[in-house]
Amino acid sequence: MKHHDWIAILDFGSQYTQLIARRVREQHVYSEILRHDNSAAKLKRLRPSGLILSGGPRSVFEPKAPACDPKLFKLGIPVLGICYGMQLTAKILGGAVKPGRTREYGNARISITDARSLFHGLPRRLAVWMSHGDQVLKLPEGFHVLAQTPTCPVAAFADPGWKIFGLQFHPEVVHTHQGTDILRRFIFNACGCRGDWRMAQFIAESCRAIRRKVGSGQVVCGLSGGVDSAVTAALLHKAIPQQLHCIFVDNGLLRHGEAEQVEETFTRALGIDLRVAQAQARFLSDLKGVVDPEKKRKAIGKRFIEVFAAEARRLGKIRFLAQGTLYPDVIESASPIGGPSATIKSHHNVGGLPPDLKFQLIEPLRELFKDEVRDLGRELGLPEAIINRQPFPGPGLAVRIVGEVTQEWVALLQQADLRVQEEIAAWDVSHKLWQAFAVLLPVKSVGVMGDGRTYEHTIVVRAVTSQDGMTADWARLPHGLLARLSNRIINEVRGINRVVYDISSKPPATIEWE
Ligand code: XMP
Repeated sequence: MKHHDWIAILDFGSQYTQLIARRVREQHVYSEILRHDNSAAKLKRLRPSGLILSGGPRSVFEPKAPACDPKLFKLGIPVLGICYGMQLTAKILGGAVKPGRTREYGNARISITDARSLFHGLPRRLAVWMSHGDQVLKLPEGFHVLAQTPTCPVAAFADPGWKIFGLQFHPEVVHTHQGTDILRRFIFNACGCRGDWRMAQFIAESCRAIRRKVGSGQVVCGLSGGVDSAVTAALLHKAIPQQLHCIFVDNGLLRHGEAEQVEETFTRALGIDLRVAQAQARFLSDLKGVVDPEKKRKAIGKRFIEVFAAEARRLGKIRFLAQGTLYPDVIESASPIGGPSATIKSHHNVGGLPPDLKFQLIEPLRELFKDEVRDLGRELGLPEAIINRQPFPGPGLAVRIVGEVTQEWVALLQQADLRVQEEIAAWDVSHKLWQAFAVLLPVKSVGVMGDGRTYEHTIVVRAVTSQDGMTADWARLPHGLLARLSNRIINEVRGINRVVYDISSKPPATIEWE
């Protein structure tokens, strides 16, 4: 895609590389992460407005330390080296780096000694975040120091022409309080970016690219109810309304009202050609007698592909399959452990399709981060209910019913889960949570209701906070909310006489129960 102003980030394997890309995009300047060993000639062709060399876990002293093309410093494109990127810059341009003795790690305070350029107008002392042992000892010829700490004499440097900069600390993390201001000075003052990258522009450019690629061909897109596939479909609909066909497989394992909402939004509000495959009975019959979680997943996955393929065949000749692959899945990057390697993953939401359904992939979101996908969805007019939807597992409620899945249990869990969703919304806590949902246990316990003894099932309320689902903490929900949930579920959902709250974190527990 063609962007006039953009920043190329060369990745040396830092855990913060993606964060740098996000920080730049937050300033409405497009950015992309590239491998550190791209040649200067290629970078020149790509014409970025500036280059950022990321940090990295290695030391420039290691024999196989990742390097960059020395010629890139001669392109006339401004360069900002961060941490490892700074040390590498110094080494390549004739300075000297010393292995860290006092390891500066964590919070530090720098004193600004030259308040021009990157530090223009900022306070003389700044709180910053360091995370590397090596330090620049001797500057390359003509360079000057911009900032220092008592143990780090070169915390920031610049070349005489104000084109090449280095920072020993990480401006991209929140612990560096003025980090965004420093990055802004690089992006706007040194690189001359305008900051005019907006979603509207992205939409116009994507639509042109989609039309070019698709020509007069037909496109199929599977909707899952989640935000990524919804935004993919909405974008394609804008680009090629007559050539897009969506398939939604109703497996009967969705939340209360979800299937209806998807149909309502896409058919009636957006006018998309949506085929709903009513497959509830088939999924349920596959799940009969299955209690093992992995067997449930397999059975559901297999049936999904079969139903999707049958529906796709019915559409006739289709050349393209659209998927909601996001940027974090496709970044070409240096892996932090074991040296740089291209870790290009491909998304397979509908993997394993039969050979007669050979599609070319269209992935219009592959340049975007999740929050950008949400912005895009808003710009395309999708309702907040879809844009802010929590992650929901492909196998749906089947992995939230411990043990065998029956229609009766699904209906009961949908009712309990609906109370959880309603109360979480009413207490306005959903923006703090990664997921909140109900789980049905096949455990019966004794209770009393009115004058009678009851012997009924248990609902678990699960609510977690998380950045990415890889680790999670149980949410400290207000006691008033927990009390209300317990009351409502026990009083309103027939068959439940006990509600418990899950206080396990991940690890060692997982978010889902199966
Ligand atoms: P766990 O339970 O492994 O879940 O801590 C982490 C995140 O992944 C979701 N999840 C799934 N998503 N298919 C999916 O598409 C699955 O089989 C599946 N299992 C778990 C889960 O909801 C959570 O956000």
